[in-house]
Amino acid sequence: MIGLRSLLILIAAISTLVVTSWAATQSPRQHLLLDANWKFHLGDEWPEALHLESSGTGAGPASEGFDDTFWRTVDLPHDWAIELPFDAAADGGHGFKALGAKYQANSIGWYRRTLTLTEADKGKRIWLTFDGVFRDASVWVNGWFVRHHESGYYPFREDITDLVRFGKGNTIAVRVDATKPEGWFYEGAGIYRHVWLDKTAPIAIAPNGVFVRTLFEKNVPNNHPTIVVEARLLNSTGSGSKVTVRGQIVSPEGKEIGAFSKTASLARQSAGIVNLTSKIASPIFWSPESPKLYELVTTVSTGGVVVDRQRTAFGIRTVGFDPNRGFLLNGKPYVLHGTCNHQDHAGVGAAMPDALQEFRVRRLKDFGCNAYRTSHNPPTPELLDACDRLGMLVMDESRLMGSDSENMTKLDENIRRDRNHPCVAIWNIANEQFFVQDTPQAANVARTMQDYIKRLDGTRPVTYAAPEGNTYRGVNSVIEVRGWNYHYGPEMDRYHAEHPFQPNVGTEQASVVGTRGIYTNDSKRGYVSAYDVVWPGWTTTAESWWSFFADRPWLSGGFVWTGFDYRGEPTPYWWPCINSHFGILDTCGFPKDAFYYYKSWWTAAPVLHVLPHWNWPGREGQSVLVEVFSNCPQVELFLNGRSLGRKRMKANSKLSWEVIYAPGTLSAKGFDGAGKIIGESKVETTGPAVRLQLTPDRETIAADGEDISVFTVSALDAEGRAVPVAQNNVHFNIEGAGSILGVGNGDPSSHEPDTYLPTLPSREIPVLDWRWQRMPISKNKTSLPEYANDFTDSSWAALRAQAGGNESTIKTANTSAVYRSHLVLSEKDLKADRALACFSGCDDEGWYFVNGHFVGESHDWQARPVFDIRPFLHAGDNVIAVGVNNLYGEGGLNPNVTVRLLGKVVAPQWSRSLFNGLAQVIVRSTHAAGSFRLTATTDELKPATATVKTTPRARRPFVP
Ligand code: GAL
Repeated sequence: MIGLRSLLILIAAISTLVVTSWAATQSPRQHLLLDANWKFHLGDEWPEALHLESSGTGAGPASEGFDDTFWRTVDLPHDWAIELPFDAAADGGHGFKALGAKYQANSIGWYRRTLTLTEADKGKRIWLTFDGVFRDASVWVNGWFVRHHESGYYPFREDITDLVRFGKGNTIAVRVDATKPEGWFYEGAGIYRHVWLDKTAPIAIAPNGVFVRTLFEKNVPNNHPTIVVEARLLNSTGSGSKVTVRGQIVSPEGKEIGAFSKTASLARQSAGIVNLTSKIASPIFWSPESPKLYELVTTVSTGGVVVDRQRTAFGIRTVGFDPNRGFLLNGKPYVLHGTCNHQDHAGVGAAMPDALQEFRVRRLKDFGCNAYRTSHNPPTPELLDACDRLGMLVMDESRLMGSDSENMTKLDENIRRDRNHPCVAIWNIANEQFFVQDTPQAANVARTMQDYIKRLDGTRPVTYAAPEGNTYRGVNSVIEVRGWNYHYGPEMDRYHAEHPFQPNVGTEQASVVGTRGIYTNDSKRGYVSAYDVVWPGWTTTAESWWSFFADRPWLSGGFVWTGFDYRGEPTPYWWPCINSHFGILDTCGFPKDAFYYYKSWWTAAPVLHVLPHWNWPGREGQSVLVEVFSNCPQVELFLNGRSLGRKRMKANSKLSWEVIYAPGTLSAKGFDGAGKIIGESKVETTGPAVRLQLTPDRETIAADGEDISVFTVSALDAEGRAVPVAQNNVHFNIEGAGSILGVGNGDPSSHEPDTYLPTLPSREIPVLDWRWQRMPISKNKTSLPEYANDFTDSSWAALRAQAGGNESTIKTANTSAVYRSHLVLSEKDLKADRALACFSGCDDEGWYFVNGHFVGESHDWQARPVFDIRPFLHAGDNVIAVGVNNLYGEGGLNPNVTVRLLGKVVAPQWSRSLFNGLAQVIVRSTHAAGSFRLTATTDELKPATATVKTTPRARRPFVP
């Protein structure tokens, strides 16, 4: 007899097996990453490309035949702004990069990519999705213009089925114009988020077509939530169809715990919605502290055949705001320890690898941050994935306020894309619309946006980040949750008393500025003291805003401006400072002292942090301000073992001492209320740096060409102590299965490059003085005497047009001719790795020969053929000959021909100075399993090496 317990275990095992077996089932949908191997060119020499005179005939790089051989190959995500130099004359708000109207040649870029669709893809719908392009993107497919999309922050997508060819190559061209900014901070330039190719059956789930919600009666969590699924389907076939939608719910432990299905009719060439509901029992709730994720598997079938299957991660939780209790998570008050963040990081700018999103979310969690405001734009989906997985609430923000059709379409896309993420707790319709905020029109627009959001997602509240104080006019009078940017103080109490029905949240607070490791203001170098004492006029210190909010539960907590430093907005100084100082972390994610202030009051972990560092040669006998950020009820400070007194810590505060400097050890002891020691820490005067140290954040990463390891570079003294003032310039070399993506050091005034590009030695030689003669030619690649070196062509006619010109030499159809020119090369020229002969058109067909050897042919007058002729060259005189057959009208060889001698690619020498003891190197894996070794050297210190393992991991599905 089998016991009940064993039976349950058996059932659990079988259901796990079931889950595993359907997990392995392939979906007919292919969702493919289209990031690798784009060709990129900075510059816009083809203004005609945007004229769009007739369909399907894109000009310049938009045309199919365009030759991009010499364009750089880049993998996405890519931000070309990070590669540009700093310039004092450039726009400082955007980080002093040589980008914008003044730098037109740097501000427009082109990307091209070919992809092959197989014959087996025939009959499928083909979708192209861009997650984010900064900005003003124009897209062509096979020369057909398909889309213009301005905003740099919203995704866009096209069904390109009509334009593609199956069993053949297809060309995608994207023109990106980053001349105009959108915000007032660094925004990058280029295709800086992922691109996807989706292949679906003609009946399939619509883009962002699955919405899964968990409903509780009155939004109060209980043990029996209702899971509500809305599946939006597309039928692009010519006949109506019966479709069955099946939902399976998989628990965080990977067990199927519920399944439901429904059959509905879908009219021909239409979209339809199928709603499913089911109850589950004993849910495991999602929270930042326990980010447990369920999965919904949605399967669509027609006539018993599965046509689509998609997996959607979701969480079970409730969110809400109460006017008196503040933010509620799972029915209980939950204080938002939030930070606002832009989307750039040292070394890579806006082009953040997915693994870097995770790195950054972890750094924020390190000091107790539990909420992230995606200021001032919708985020990349991978940030939300990281927040779902790691546990971080999100305020998801729209770029602009507006109820015009374009803005509402973008809002629609934003909400549909992000509404399944449990991390998203609140929508924010805009930031600081100073000039209109209080007007009736702004109230109308806000109401329209809010109502629309509620229609798409009734589960989350809506806010607006309001800059001005005590007004209940315009947006503030219609918005569900009143947002407060700055202006903390009695006016908030008054507002709350006068509007007791409206919940509140601190959408943006603090904005205190500080430079990591700097303890005096230095306007010349653009540094500010990190003591939590410098703030612009509209803002306040960490201690002031937080102690005010912490005392008022109805305020829900709030979001600090900012978690990380970011490029641009170099407040309070301008050039040479190129980035902001607002961060609790610098641009690399290295903690500033403020990190410990927040950690003290935002976590339960004992914190005892003493600042500043204790390396002050020359200041002996002078007074130095010492502060302690701690959550210990009492703290005693010691200098070289001598007590400087014990002080009581007030909640949400900090302690300070004036200490007469003497080198040695400055230490602190933390005590609990009963006087028991609960923490000790110290800072010591170090010796000079003697060696470097490299510490990877992860010692094993996936060999998938996407994963990263983030190295901290530091300098140690003879006793192995980190030297907080080291500023050595460090060089980096990498060997093995990794490549350096970028370097940084958090110095807000550093003008060192974040990234270094390989160089390709190249020399271009024009091929001039062509002669030609009409004659019948052989089309079977056979050399004629006229192609050979020893043929004398002096009696032939000379082409009038030279390099850059064009000339129709053959005036009649079905007529052929031979063209010859000479290229004199030295022994040194022959050292080139490749010699690319670049032809610029041959009307209509051409057969190309070098020193009598056949090198290639072309059959399209628009083609710009390129052949590597290096193997056929010798020192001295070389003959290039082309047999041309003109089929229609006039024709001939375009004499604009060059030979490019290319050397070997030279890897760049990466380097970065330490800034107050630290620098960062971001290394990405290749596809090779094994390891890579990073070496750091300077002239002055002992070098360091560190090895990171790369373990096999299947690449996610991608377009080869
Ligand atoms: C706010 C604004 C932010 C940033 C900040 C600097 O008013 O919303 O984007 O500019 O000021 O303190």
